[in-house]
Amino acid sequence: MKVVAFLFLASATLLVNSSPIKEDVEAPYQRFIEFTDEEGQTHTIDLEAKPNMELIEEIERIPANNAYYLFTRRNQILSQTLTLNNANSINNSNFNAAVPTIVIVHGWLSSRLTEPNPTVRSAYLNKSDVNVIVVDWSRLAMSDYTTAALGVPAIGRGVGEFLRFLNSVTGAPFENMHLVGFSLGAHVVGNAGRELGGRVARVTGLDPAGPLWNYNTNRLRASDGVYVEAIHTDGGLGGLGIGSAVADADFFPNGGNSQPGCLTSLCNHNRAWELFAATVTYNHLVGQLCTTTLQITWNTCRGQQLRLGNEDLRKTGRGMYRLDTGRRYPY
Ligand SMILES: *[C@@H]1O[C@H](CO)[C@@H](O)[C@H](O)[C@H]1NC(C)=O
Ligand SMILES: *[C@@H]1O[C@H](CO)[C@@H](O)[C@H](O)[C@H]1NC(C)=O
Repeated sequence: MKVVAFLFLASATLLVNSSPIKEDVEAPYQRFIEFTDEEGQTHTIDLEAKPNMELIEEIERIPANNAYYLFTRRNQILSQTLTLNNANSINNSNFNAAVPTIVIVHGWLSSRLTEPNPTVRSAYLNKSDVNVIVVDWSRLAMSDYTTAALGVPAIGRGVGEFLRFLNSVTGAPFENMHLVGFSLGAHVVGNAGRELGGRVARVTGLDPAGPLWNYNTNRLRASDGVYVEAIHTDGGLGGLGIGSAVADADFFPNGGNSQPGCLTSLCNHNRAWELFAATVTYNHLVGQLCTTTLQITWNTCRGQQLRLGNEDLRKTGRGMYRLDTGRRYPY
């Protein structure tokens, strides 16, 4: 059964974007993943569900399925819509090429209206004068999980194309951009950074999605930006996060699998953007370098320190870091 499932996934992926899954039939594999959303509704992810190829093809053909909403200190609540290949939409907006640009990308079953967008945006605008661009890819994100996951690279390339256009219209440099994505959105920002040749200053993956991504070459990786960071909060078996190091610096708060004060997988998963937003405000969470994954589990990391998250565009760092946090904001 395990082998059959593996073969199906491998061929489904190959069909769409020729990204072979590593041939490792012994990898832990769980077909169904259940989780309960904010409204208390239980969703089952069937990793063997047949993806909706018509929707994927549409997403690949029409990058304008992505929408971009600008927030600045002059419009913290009401967004301005920026449109690919429409220079007027950018010239007539509050976009300021002289300040950093933060791009926020949501995950599965979400939209621009849902977290992490409101919290991360408000943390940034309270802290500093930046452009916050909230990406909405809900047309695909609202579909079933296998379809959404397969369409992620096309969504990411669309975001990259939009940022290239923004740069061509305003001169806003890639080295002043920070792309932040949650869950499937972490792989979206990875692909966006890759589309731009890894030139954006920072890419941050907030608990990058795990199911269907462990052996997927389209996942977030260290070369997607000048500095790439991942924050892992729900990485256990059957968790929603990938749970293993994928970036330049990978943080494992509280060991990376379960978070204090959380009883559900979704709560662990969401803690990634909650921690990140808190560090934009306070820059207070400090990890210690680990040399092995066992050190992460045993909480015996004693290496050099690196701060988790924060808004520093010139951040550098490498390796795996563990830290312990509190159970309530600001953790
Ligand atoms: C937008 O602004 C740029 C820079 O000021 C200018 O070169 C360009 O012509 C403007 N485009 C439109 C459509 O107004
Ligand atoms: C930003 O400031 C407003 C007003 O002071 C406050 O209500 C909000 O909670 C702050 N947001 C964050 C994320 O700190």
